Amino acid sequence: MPDYGIATVVALVVASAAGAFYRLYLHPLTHIPGPKLAALTHWYEAYYDVVKKGQYIFEIGRMHEKYGPIVRVGPNEVHILDSEYYNQLYNMTNRLDKYDYFYSMMGNPLATFGTIQADVHRVRRIALGPFFSSKAVAKFYPQVQSVVDRLTERMELCAEKAEPIPLFYAYRCMTVDIISEYVFAHQMGLLDRADWGKYFYSAWRSLWELSPTTRQFPWMIDVIMSMPRWMTKLTDPRALEVVDMFAEIDHQTEVLLNSDSKAVEAQPHPTVIWELSKSDALPPQEKTPKRLAVEANSLIAAGFETTGGTLTLMTYLVLSHPNVYQKLLAELEQAIPDPTKIPGSLVLERLPYLFAVVKESLRVSVGAYSRLSRVNRYEAMRYKQYNIPAGTAIGMSALFVAHDEAIFPDALSFIPERWLEPDGSIGATALRLEHYLLAFGKGARGCVGINLAYAELYSVLTTVVRRFGNRLELYKTEERDIEAVHDYFAGMTRRPDGSEGNGLRVLVKKQK
Ligand code: HEM
Ligand SMILES: *[C@@H]1O[C@H](CO)[C@@H](O)[C@H](O)[C@H]1NC(C)=O
Repeated sequence: MPDYGIATVVALVVASAAGAFYRLYLHPLTHIPGPKLAALTHWYEAYYDVVKKGQYIFEIGRMHEKYGPIVRVGPNEVHILDSEYYNQLYNMTNRLDKYDYFYSMMGNPLATFGTIQADVHRVRRIALGPFFSSKAVAKFYPQVQSVVDRLTERMELCAEKAEPIPLFYAYRCMTVDIISEYVFAHQMGLLDRADWGKYFYSAWRSLWELSPTTRQFPWMIDVIMSMPRWMTKLTDPRALEVVDMFAEIDHQTEVLLNSDSKAVEAQPHPTVIWELSKSDALPPQEKTPKRLAVEANSLIAAGFETTGGTLTLMTYLVLSHPNVYQKLLAELEQAIPDPTKIPGSLVLERLPYLFAVVKESLRVSVGAYSRLSRVNRYEAMRYKQYNIPAGTAIGMSALFVAHDEAIFPDALSFIPERWLEPDGSIGATALRLEHYLLAFGKGARGCVGINLAYAELYSVLTTVVRRFGNRLELYKTEERDIEAVHDYFAGMTRRPDGSEGNGLRVLVKKQK
């Protein structure tokens, strides 16, 4: 009797050897330099991202030092390190897809963020965009400020008890409360939780830590989500936190969609998911409760960690640079005579030093560390003498632009003044540098929430610094609590729960 087992093994070995031969010698990307292993298999990436925990982007940086500005980082993917090329890739005119392999870890192709195809995305973005215009955000701004006020009230309570404030968490509570209010008119209420939302953060954090693994095995998310609750709890209690959180978001979406329309529409500002459910810009299949819940989930994910992370880093940078702190405080005291009356963000962003601090913090924070890979399905792209065939994934990380010494000399230092004219005003320099500020991405898939994000950054920094004046100081916060050492899409610090670090903590001295 023939041994089918051995025959199968032999067939598999021959087939994969043929596949390897093809990827190394016949594939249309063989002319792009890079490590052979990366060209051969995704396991090269997985080693750095899964085993070494979110390290591939840093390895890509080292590959560029060795191989030059274009590197083959995967069997069908290149990465380009060239600040001048960014707008050739991420712009409004070319119709690029997101790379499905790369984005599969988001598990959310139904949401605007995770949509793969450019033409499907266009429909969703046109429907979503208006609710994040600067006009729409201005209507919502009083809500933003009221959440920020709740934050400073709670900080004042801590001050009376001489209690350190875990701002790493506090800021994330705030951004979640703000975005959940806007998305489905229901604040998750994290700012009122005794634990400063540590549990909530920890659930998300687990998901991000898992993301390089789910990129290799995208079915994992579905398996976790469809397991009975008791089984999930047995398999991994952290996964249970995630499942419960998603269930809560589904539930809140359902509550909203079944609300009385008079109540929702009486709000002074739009409620995003409600408006989408009524939108003429979307066909019916885009307005199912399922898709709207996925969109809500994704908007909360996109709006909370990014903004919370930038606020955390910004506050640390200000407090650890006394000159910057004093200069900023002086400007704010002069421009805002009454600390209980904080002006709107459109007024604030015209204060030059505040403007410079916000821009420089966004540069240093980088935004997404990941390579945001795109695919041009329709035509080949060119980079210098290299032809990149249609269908190839091409990525660029903002990390390398933020650190480009030719654009930002002394790039590792925090220097708000670099954004201003010699006389301290906002002018041509800011305009020139703005072109290279990529924290929000660029082009058709750039951040839809940019106006809301700026409103939050300006409001929080102003309110916290103006209200507490000279009373703020860092509490046992070191470089290791702040450094982004993992790339889980955003650059992430060590876990802030005491296991690896403690995140940003501050003390507010008692009022004299
Ligand atoms: C400082 C804060 C923020 C930063 C640094 C940031 C950064 C980014 C970046 C880099 C992208 C592009 C991602 C990609 O190409 O895959 C993006 C997209 C997106 N962001 Fe933000 N973001 C911030 C705040 C927000 C807020 C407050 C929201 C509110 C909802 C939001 C919602 C989104 C959405 C929905 C997308 C996908 C857009 C699309 O594909 O059309 N972001 N963001
Ligand atoms: C957008 O990118 C394409 C190439 O992908 C390029 O031909 C075009 O000039 C770019 N447009 C702008 C406005 O930069």
